[in-house]
Amino acid sequence: MLMRVWAILLAAGQGSRAKKSAADASKQFLLWKGLPLFWHSALTLSALPSLEGLVLVLPEDDFPAAEILALTCNRNFPLKLPLKITPGGILRQDSVWSGLRALPPECTDVLVHDSARPFISCKLAKTILDALREGCLAVVPGLEPGDTIKEIDGQGLVTRTPPRASLRGIQTPQGFKRRALHQAHSLANQARETHSEACFEKHWLVTDDAALLEKCSVPVLVIPGDPENRKITTVEDLALLKEITDSTDEPARPCVGFGYDVHRYGGNRPFILGGVRFESTDIRLQAHSDGDVLLHALIDALLGCIGGGDIGVLFPDTNAAYDNISSAVLLAETLELTHEKQMRIMHVDLTVAAEAPKISPYRLEILKNIAKLLQIDQSRVNLKATTEEGLGFTGAKQGIKAMASVIGLIPAQNKN
Ligand code: CTP
Ligand code: MG
Repeated sequence: MLMRVWAILLAAGQGSRAKKSAADASKQFLLWKGLPLFWHSALTLSALPSLEGLVLVLPEDDFPAAEILALTCNRNFPLKLPLKITPGGILRQDSVWSGLRALPPECTDVLVHDSARPFISCKLAKTILDALREGCLAVVPGLEPGDTIKEIDGQGLVTRTPPRASLRGIQTPQGFKRRALHQAHSLANQARETHSEACFEKHWLVTDDAALLEKCSVPVLVIPGDPENRKITTVEDLALLKEITDSTDEPARPCVGFGYDVHRYGGNRPFILGGVRFESTDIRLQAHSDGDVLLHALIDALLGCIGGGDIGVLFPDTNAAYDNISSAVLLAETLELTHEKQMRIMHVDLTVAAEAPKISPYRLEILKNIAKLLQIDQSRVNLKATTEEGLGFTGAKQGIKAMASVIGLIPAQNKN
């Protein structure tokens, strides 16, 4: 059966154990590498190819401010997926319930993840989804504890020492068939309404979702967890963020790329610039592709931003597939590469040098088209045109040149 996967990202807790003082921000809002902690997990999950959307659960108190923060993150470092934001509740399981209610009807499978685990890897989440795909109802990652674990009674006396090999420290993300998870939470909610508080706490108060499914006798598969997928729980754990920040020492990183290209006049390609055909000119271009010098310079500038080499390496003119290919197609492929790095384009500045044809009548159309191709607002693109005072090959109307500068932002944590 086709799986339609959504994630529920929990960020509605108080983070009380990780606070040095009551006035401190809850851990999921701490700024780490230029982004609130919760957004790191959101970005990592968003890179899962089969994820269709994400429900973010934020604290109920001061929800409007938290929601604005999340929306700002999504504007600056977009998930490129449907995002729903909903207030959580007092208990962790209340927050999951709130997330479950926000899922769209078509969703069949859910990943539930604690934003207190910002080091989650895409690989781990993919393994969980693979197990769901094979028919499991509930899949959780777990690690064999390094310490021997003992069970104790109220007086601190040991009652049992379970063999370590049979124990697992359980992590998130946890994957579930939506229906099974929904049913388990519904039962817990019913028990809360119909039973005493003490009875609810004894039987239905849990610290992870798998525990609720266990109570409903649903088999829960434990797969190997990831030792790096640590949880920030106590004040001491905050050092984990510091260590990693210090070792890379990077907030969200600005990047810059420059591109330069030249095309010779006199071939048989119609004149095209920035994806716009110049119907009014007889000038023809010599080129392997469509000869769009401006888009070629732009592609090189984008590649420069992500350390992606150059257009000749990516789209060699010895490859027949690129013969007369539209440069807009090449640009779209390049843009995909920048998306993989989660790069956001901050600004693009373009310069064309040509004696002829006249660029100005087409300037606005080119601007519009490039903004559309780059999926950014037109205010982030600038286009200048100049002649070179009759000097050189442009002055002799033998060709045209274009230059492009791009400034981008790349989130520092990128462990897909
Ligand atoms: N969580 C939640 N809603 C709650 C409680 C917890 O969404 N009512 C989330 C937290 O934001 C966290 C995850 O569940 O990402 C795991 O919980 P925990 O580590 O216990 O975080 P907190 O409850 O925030 O911390 P503490 O228990 O120290 O107050
Ligand atoms: Mg808690």
